[in-house]
Amino acid sequence: PRIYIPGDSGALALGAEKVAKAIEKELAERGVEAKIVRNGSRGAYFLEPMVEVATAEGRVAYGPVKPSDVKSLFDSGFLKGAPHKRWLGAPDKIPFLAKQTRLTFARCGVIDPLSLDNYKAHGGLKGLHNAVAMAPADIVKQVTESGLRGRGGAGFPTGIKWKTVLDTASDRKYIVCNADEGDSATFADRMIMEGDPFVLIEGMAIAGIATGATKGFVYIRSEYPHAVATMNKAVEIARKHGVLGVNVLGSPNAFDMEIRVGAGAYVCGEETSLLNSLEGKRGVVRAKPPLPAIQGLFGKPTVINNVISLASVPIIMDKGAAFYKDFGMGRSRGTIPIQIAGNVKHGGLFETAFGLTLGEIVDDIGGGTASGRPVKAVQVGGPLGAYFPRALFDTPFDYEAFAAKDGLIGHAGLTVFDDTADMLKQARFAMEFCAIESCGKCTPCRIGSTRGVEVLDKVASGIEAEKNLALVTDLCNTMKFGSLCALGGFTPYPVMSSITHFPEDFQPAPTRVAAE
Ligand code: NAI
Ligand code: SF4
Repeated sequence: PRIYIPGDSGALALGAEKVAKAIEKELAERGVEAKIVRNGSRGAYFLEPMVEVATAEGRVAYGPVKPSDVKSLFDSGFLKGAPHKRWLGAPDKIPFLAKQTRLTFARCGVIDPLSLDNYKAHGGLKGLHNAVAMAPADIVKQVTESGLRGRGGAGFPTGIKWKTVLDTASDRKYIVCNADEGDSATFADRMIMEGDPFVLIEGMAIAGIATGATKGFVYIRSEYPHAVATMNKAVEIARKHGVLGVNVLGSPNAFDMEIRVGAGAYVCGEETSLLNSLEGKRGVVRAKPPLPAIQGLFGKPTVINNVISLASVPIIMDKGAAFYKDFGMGRSRGTIPIQIAGNVKHGGLFETAFGLTLGEIVDDIGGGTASGRPVKAVQVGGPLGAYFPRALFDTPFDYEAFAAKDGLIGHAGLTVFDDTADMLKQARFAMEFCAIESCGKCTPCRIGSTRGVEVLDKVASGIEAEKNLALVTDLCNTMKFGSLCALGGFTPYPVMSSITHFPEDFQPAPTRVAAE
């Protein structure tokens, strides 16, 4: 028999290692031979550690499994998929997974992450095989026509970015993958790097061939040691098997790549700051223009894409632009891995076509709050995203629809809050976060965020609350329009959405101060 026990950071944080040890011990004691595969997670984290057994009728899942469950699992015959209190049945029939449309994450949690044969058996490398037989301009055209937009948060059309790099003549060009996934509630980049690393390598090789870049770097945040280890091993395997190197898949195209580790600064997720960091410099933001697509890493034309943007390219090159474009709504095409976190019952990664409403995601898929109390607010798009109240739950998950309501979908992380949340505290937190993480290059962000904390403290103490709230609004306008990058420029989103949608939390209330 074959037993699958996720070995990604999410499952490990929930105790997967102890479960694996208990299963190994049980197998040894019973003298049963079985192969244990440390797969990635399927992303239903409320069911992790989720152990699967391959049976003649297909895979059967059990979860969340505790080490203390292991003995009884063996006693009840789990190696044959028999019922048990942790029995979940066929994994793809579990509602949270069955309702998804898995294109980018199709293999994540299914295959052995470091088996290239496994990867190929599940459709891997087909996109790259197609790409090496095409002219670069035709690859770029296909990615443009698919409607794929930057999944890091800004939603810039990937094909247009690639075209700028392709059209810029240079002796050397680079592909840089931004894996500095710093937003709260986000873990999609990590999950795919740990669960299906070859899909990112394949996407980067396609990007290289499409734009004439022969070298790639993945910039991974230092908080992701497991992703770093898996990616390093996967790059080595890919190189050994000719997926990377001077002749990619035996073609005349050369492409190779390296993994680089960040040093723990949120702002290094901003693309120009990331480039400085990669070059060994301090991670401060560069002014744009010049765009990185024209003058990026070491001054050369550079594609910088998020992990999910690049990992979505292989399926587009395999199944075609029309297939991918068929999913989604408006100008938001394809699928998006929504990451549901915070105070929520069913936390995890949910890949689906754009267009579900926020209410469907939070109430139906997320199952409401973990505390059982009413949902008060959902912050969409990380610490710089807006807080949406229930009144905006009919907003469809789509770049333009969120922008129209003064919000953003960003990297598609959702943090759910129940009715005990204090939105004034959350607004203060946003300013404080900005003050701590500011790179210091421009005044509205460097000074403004600190002043913002002070003024919000005055509001909380009931000192000239009305006047000080007007001051916060004014400050937010200065930060929004006067900051050089999104850190200072987007901090107003959480602050202003809190003030706009939850005015009751900003009322001068002596009782509130007294109560605290
Ligand atoms: P941006 O709108 O300035 O740029 C988007 C991308 O398009 C950049 O790569 C830019 O170089 C490129 N671009 C623009 N015009 C181009 C052209 N004509 N040709 C080629 N390329 C062109 O946005 P930015 O500052 O890169 O990103 C802001 C976003 O980052 C926010 O929406 C936020 O949601 C997200 N974010 C994501 C985080 C994460 O953990 N993934 C963390 C923090 C913020
Ligand atoms: Fe640096 Fe903040 Fe200015 Fe961005 S907005 S360049 S983080 S000081």
